[in-house]
Amino acid sequence: MIRSWHLGDDRQSLVLASFDDRLPEAVYWGPALPTGENLETLSAAALADVTGGMVDRSAGLSLCPEASESFPGQTGLTARNASGAPLMPSFRFESEAASEHGLTLVFADNSLDLSLVFDLVLTPETSLLKLQTRLESANEITVDWLAAPVLPVPAHTGEMIEFSGRWCAEFLTRRLPFAPGARVRDNRTGRTDHAHFPGLVVCNAGTSNTAGEAFAFHYGWSGGHKMVAEELADGRRQVQFGHATASLASGRHFVSAPLYATYSATGLNGAAVRFQRHVRDHVVQGARTPRPVHYNCWEAVYFKHDLDELKAIASQAAGLGAERFVLDDGWFGRRDDDTSSLGDWVIDKRKYPDGLTPLIDHIKALGMEFGIWFEPEMVNEDSDLCRAHPDWVLGHADQIRGRQQLVLDMSNQEVRDYLYAHIADVLKNNDIGYIKWDHNRILPVVDAEQAEGFYELVDRLRSDFPAVEIESCSSGGGRIDFGVLERTHRVWLSDSNDALERQRIQHDAALFLPASVTGSHVGPRHCHTSGRTLDIRLRAWTAAQRHMGFEMDPRELSEAEAETLRNVTSWWKANRDWMMQADILRLDSTDPAVIAEQQLAGDGSRFVAFAALTRPSDQILPRPLRLTGLDPQGRYRLSLVNRDEAPRLSRGAPLLKHQDLEASGQYLMSHGLTLPWRFPETVWVVEGERL
Ligand code: GLA
Repeated sequence: MIRSWHLGDDRQSLVLASFDDRLPEAVYWGPALPTGENLETLSAAALADVTGGMVDRSAGLSLCPEASESFPGQTGLTARNASGAPLMPSFRFESEAASEHGLTLVFADNSLDLSLVFDLVLTPETSLLKLQTRLESANEITVDWLAAPVLPVPAHTGEMIEFSGRWCAEFLTRRLPFAPGARVRDNRTGRTDHAHFPGLVVCNAGTSNTAGEAFAFHYGWSGGHKMVAEELADGRRQVQFGHATASLASGRHFVSAPLYATYSATGLNGAAVRFQRHVRDHVVQGARTPRPVHYNCWEAVYFKHDLDELKAIASQAAGLGAERFVLDDGWFGRRDDDTSSLGDWVIDKRKYPDGLTPLIDHIKALGMEFGIWFEPEMVNEDSDLCRAHPDWVLGHADQIRGRQQLVLDMSNQEVRDYLYAHIADVLKNNDIGYIKWDHNRILPVVDAEQAEGFYELVDRLRSDFPAVEIESCSSGGGRIDFGVLERTHRVWLSDSNDALERQRIQHDAALFLPASVTGSHVGPRHCHTSGRTLDIRLRAWTAAQRHMGFEMDPRELSEAEAETLRNVTSWWKANRDWMMQADILRLDSTDPAVIAEQQLAGDGSRFVAFAALTRPSDQILPRPLRLTGLDPQGRYRLSLVNRDEAPRLSRGAPLLKHQDLEASGQYLMSHGLTLPWRFPETVWVVEGERL
């Protein structure tokens, strides 16, 4: 007997089938099937043959492949009973419930008193699947691994794009062949981490940004994930995501984080746009519009807080166009460097004898909002908190410190209450609109309760201070995922304010993140993390590609640099209303020295393309830059916004250098833009408008 279900829209179809009441398998996932397709026939047709060297029925690659079925690969659940014996459930269909855009499927193993529930939703506007597995047990059990609903990827996808990275180099992508055996990522850092963004794109050699097929995944969890991408001996391929191994404990209820997944027939951009829109419209809650231009004082003053100096900096930042001033690390306890005071969330009277009010009043008078830095989950041994509550520290006493700091045990209600009380006190007594919430080390213990405790604390603060926005920072991009973005409004993508590095990082992060949540700041002339010296035009245009801000000491700017920054910031402000709602389409540059993208308004009426030349090209002249996502029949007017940046060595007269261009979408996408020659480390900015 076959039961089948369909989740789909005009962009994709996912067909699930349960054979003889066993766990459901995705028997089809790909382009939208025509209405009227017979699901039962498809399901029956998906049953594979059996030959020598196999058991007598091919074990289902179900939403949770089972050990009891002799599944020849990684199973979706590993659990033990109270005495430690492995549990090998064999689930059978119990019930189903359909909602407007989703399905809940319940399966049970009555002999073990276990039930397994799959919550499956397809959000219609964004065509993103949101999939969760729940396990309920009548008895106390231990679960070592519970995958979110497991999906197969088809045989014609031979490659995967994986994410790794490091501090100042988040979202590094790597294209790997799908090969027999399992590619396993088990993130043991206890946080999302720079090195383990929980995403995967399965595609093939022909998939580019703008064309080809892609199956894309993201696991929305901040406690560290595990991923398995496996090719079985029989040729089938599966993708599993769940919490990192050993982060689940004993209990009766277990639930995976949501796995977000989508099929795109239109290249990586097809998937990227769905993730971007989903984050913007369904994950992030209550982000203020327009997005204000930031000023963050970290790289200007570090721990040296002097009221008069900060006021002078704020005045200058406001003059450049900043609308939100974020007071970074150093305002609390006796925090003169990074060896002390985390945990003592009390304003430092030595630096601020009259509290923060004089600074805040000054900032408000300049028309800016005030924001402040916290690192709530952390503690220094040199702190009143640690002296009073050494037992609140997570992990054993002789663990290795990270940035001289230890981690508080967020599963402890007393810890959360303490943090809530102190943060709430600062928020109540000061006019604060924004928190930069940091998390600067990996955890000594991988434990889901730590991330759950963090979520609970943020949720409590959010509900009591709904007007306060939060930025997720973790030494830059160490905590970026849809779990944290459900509770915050912006991510500090990277501690690298090196605009060349940023170009690469923000380009790859756009596979998942919209501009509206992606912080990007104009750093100092001499970059503090890379040692490179970069021109203000590159720095300003790079920040203007995302949620813009400044982080240098504005007193270092020459008048000409300040003028450039003011101009680019005004340009950003004039465009942010539509740009922060636009889709970021990564362009397939034929020149590996060029990183290019096109931000296209949802209604297709306008766009802006940014093309950064990161180093000198191999060929003499710029290769045409092919645009994407336009109406081939439509006509567009294009303007090179910063044509005055063309250097004297550009001696010819490409049209865009001197005047606007009118052309069809077909021409712009097929031939592409002929841009003037320019120096490396520059960005061309081309605005387009549909006529
Ligand atoms: C982390 C953050 C920085 C800054 C410092 C302050 O490194 O990523 O942006 O806030 O902490 O200590």
